[in-house]
Amino acid sequence: MARSQKKSGVVFDHIAAKLSDLDMEMVRSIPPGGNWKDIPLETVMKSKRLQQIRESGGRTTYYGRLLKDRPSYTINTHFSRPGNGTFIHPEQNRLISLREAARLQSFPDDYLFLGSKASKYKQIGNAIPPLMAKSIAEVFKGETSIDLFAGAGGLAWGIHEAGFDCLLAVDFDKNMCETLRESSSTREVLNLDLTASESIENVCESVENLLHGRQLSLCSGGPPCQGFSTAGNWDIQDPRNNLFKPFLEIVRRLSPENVLIENVPGIKSMLKGEILRKILNLLGELGYETQWTVLKSETFGVPQYRRRVIIFASLNDSVISFPEPLFAAKGDDYARFDGTGNLVVLPNPITVWAAISELPPIEQGQGEACMFYDSSWPESAYQKWLRGQIDLRGMYHLYTTEIN
Ligand SMILES: C[S@@+](CC[C@H](N)C(=O)[O-])C[C@H]1O[C@@H](n2cnc3c(N)ncnc32)[C@H](O)[C@@H]1O
Repeated sequence: MARSQKKSGVVFDHIAAKLSDLDMEMVRSIPPGGNWKDIPLETVMKSKRLQQIRESGGRTTYYGRLLKDRPSYTINTHFSRPGNGTFIHPEQNRLISLREAARLQSFPDDYLFLGSKASKYKQIGNAIPPLMAKSIAEVFKGETSIDLFAGAGGLAWGIHEAGFDCLLAVDFDKNMCETLRESSSTREVLNLDLTASESIENVCESVENLLHGRQLSLCSGGPPCQGFSTAGNWDIQDPRNNLFKPFLEIVRRLSPENVLIENVPGIKSMLKGEILRKILNLLGELGYETQWTVLKSETFGVPQYRRRVIIFASLNDSVISFPEPLFAAKGDDYARFDGTGNLVVLPNPITVWAAISELPPIEQGQGEACMFYDSSWPESAYQKWLRGQIDLRGMYHLYTTEIN
């Protein structure tokens, strides 16, 4: 289906997770911006987990209800449960739907997630926000790219939208691969386990065939981060922490001009920074100039606070600048100087309400895979963009003119 055919009056996967009676009792007691601390003692006494959190002091994002006028907190893969983050709808007594989460991640409405409901939670929660990915990819020059550990394709979407011809994406999860194929961001999708040496052979051979003698411009990827994630318990022994090795082997074999690696902020302090240093050193041994930083998703038009460690590596000596913010960050200055010395005032980040306000109300455990609704009155420029009614340039323009 072309984007224009899908854009108006239809929303996919507007389905909210089913909650138990006890979960509903908790959800009802939490006001916008509130969390587990707002749950009355008589309800706490019915839940072992809540009692533990109360005794040991849990994060204030647990059992959180979203505020309308701020970006959301990080959407992880657990947004089907109230206890692992801030996923309660700002007005309705339910968790955010799959589509609402996808919107908070900045997936346009015509981005379809295939596979089971459980897989869709993973696909959405694991992704790098597509708009953040686009801003990052735009700083690279070149024509061709590949994306490893591609997941549902948040990063691949951004790279494709930044103008790259994405030759190949690889993931070992079948559902992720189906979503990647449906997205059309990449020419080929390989369903392979990258820890197997035959897979590395297969990837390199396929890419060389698609390159027809050209040099690969960009190799990107987000090797799994569960072991590093601050959302779960850190496990130094987790074999997934070693998945950057096959990534670097493919870099060694294909010698792309540039490399882009994304990961969770936890990687900075993992083994006192040893893992990050090792990745940078190995890239250095392959002849790459490296640099890394932490980028904030809300500064790229994503209605969500999400931090990502971004590593750039380049075979040329020229330093590639990290992307400039388009929106103000939480706790940062609202203005910056552009390349020509002019002061640019940054708009406030896009809010939860700008992302989801016009979607039809649903009950917990309810919703439809494909729902028709009256979408004639989008309430924000972001909603217009999600539906394909304006392009990205138009959306950014509307937010910047609003503050002048
Ligand atoms: C953090 S997610 C990547 C998200 C992706 N960059 C995006 O923006 O949507 C990591 C992905 O690595 C995949 N993966 C994990 N182990 C793998 C392996 N051994 N071989 C290939 N893919 C693997 C997982 O299925 C998951 O989709």
